[in-house]
Amino acid sequence: MQLETLSLVDFKNIASATLRFGAGLNCLVGENGAGKTNVLDAIHYLSMCRSSLGTTDRQSVRHGAEFFVVEGGYVADGGYGVGVVCSFSGSAGKKIRANDKEYERFSDHLGAVPLVMVSPADSYLISDAADERRRWLNSFISQLDRGYLQALVRYNGVLVERNRLLKEGVSPVSAEVLDALDVQLVRHGEVVFSRREQIVGQLAPLVADFYARLSDDREAVELSYRSELSGGAFGDVLAASRQKDFALGFTSSGVHRDDLVMRIGGHPLRRYGSQGQQKSFLVALKLAQGVVSTEVMGERPILLLDDLFDKLDGGRVGRLLELVSCEPFGQIFVSDCNKPRLAEILARSGKEYVLFEIDNGELSQESSVRSQESGYATQKPATYVAPKTHNS
Ligand SMILES: Nc1ncnc2c1ncn2[C@@H]1O[C@H](COP(=O)(O)OP(=O)(O)OP(=O)(O)O)[C@@H](O)[C@H]1O
Ligand SMILES: [Mg+2]
Repeated sequence: MQLETLSLVDFKNIASATLRFGAGLNCLVGENGAGKTNVLDAIHYLSMCRSSLGTTDRQSVRHGAEFFVVEGGYVADGGYGVGVVCSFSGSAGKKIRANDKEYERFSDHLGAVPLVMVSPADSYLISDAADERRRWLNSFISQLDRGYLQALVRYNGVLVERNRLLKEGVSPVSAEVLDALDVQLVRHGEVVFSRREQIVGQLAPLVADFYARLSDDREAVELSYRSELSGGAFGDVLAASRQKDFALGFTSSGVHRDDLVMRIGGHPLRRYGSQGQQKSFLVALKLAQGVVSTEVMGERPILLLDDLFDKLDGGRVGRLLELVSCEPFGQIFVSDCNKPRLAEILARSGKEYVLFEIDNGELSQESSVRSQESGYATQKPATYVAPKTHNS
């Protein structure tokens, strides 16, 4: 997928802008607070129907304005055009339209414009509790598979019912209802489990491979899926823990307790990884997400790398730009606050790019640069060879 044009009206600190992007690498430079993340967040809105920062729709309207409108003109890898408009006003609420057709449910738009974002805010995926990692996995798999989202919503509905009953305590009636609920919980839980197991199975070798390339083989990392359902049939696990669940007043086993395990050199990444190593892991995870998304959807996602240098040394940033210039990735947006630093690394990478400067919400296209002509030494473009993945 390629974003050709983006127009913004009263979105955060940007009063009005119309931008035309390049098919490959697009760079945004500007000082802290200039509005680089805001531009990327607008692109995020067009794919995910919400901010990447947890900002509410109302907070995304420019101070003093009544509404915002974000409009993107895309070209799919198949060559056809897709126009997406996201608007919000206090009176009309949020509306998303694709090719002039308004969606009834925002979830129907997920996956239409695949997107992967790497942002400094991602560190919560490592440091926070398991529910954040499940949320990320859910949001990713939901982009790939409507059936997954449906099973997840139903599972959560049954879980709420079951927990309500458990809180009320044992009675012959509730035990019977519980049997019926368990049948439903097992049915939906197994759909969720098998899709998560499959997707993490695809992600894991890619994460290890991308990390090795980013770190120049300095460290080895692992990603794995932890679920109580791996150890036996969910129905048996539920039956075995029913008495305990009554005592606790909630359902103590199931896919709502799954986690993603992240390790470096065999140790927990959260405790033993440096900030740069943790960031490299997150970049590897997101790049792996991009590859799996392309495999499943047949459409390359747009890649947003906000604050390119955040916690990464120059070597890793250079290798990252090499990696994302290869086949599975299409259009890329990067932001950085240090223009000379960005210009130097781009010149060294030998990539073509389009540069935009942003100052206090005002955008200007600096240049369309072919850095091979800049006189710097260039590197040979890398070729990406995907490692074998499970279940694909
Ligand atoms: N609703 C809004 N109306 C007006 N300005 C806003 C709104 N929301 C955020 N801003 C402003 O946007 C600016 C932040 O923009 P952004 O996060 O895109 O900066 P940035 O260029 O990414 O900076 P950094 O390099 O620090 O990451 C802040 O000055 C903030 O006050
Ligand atoms: Mg920023």
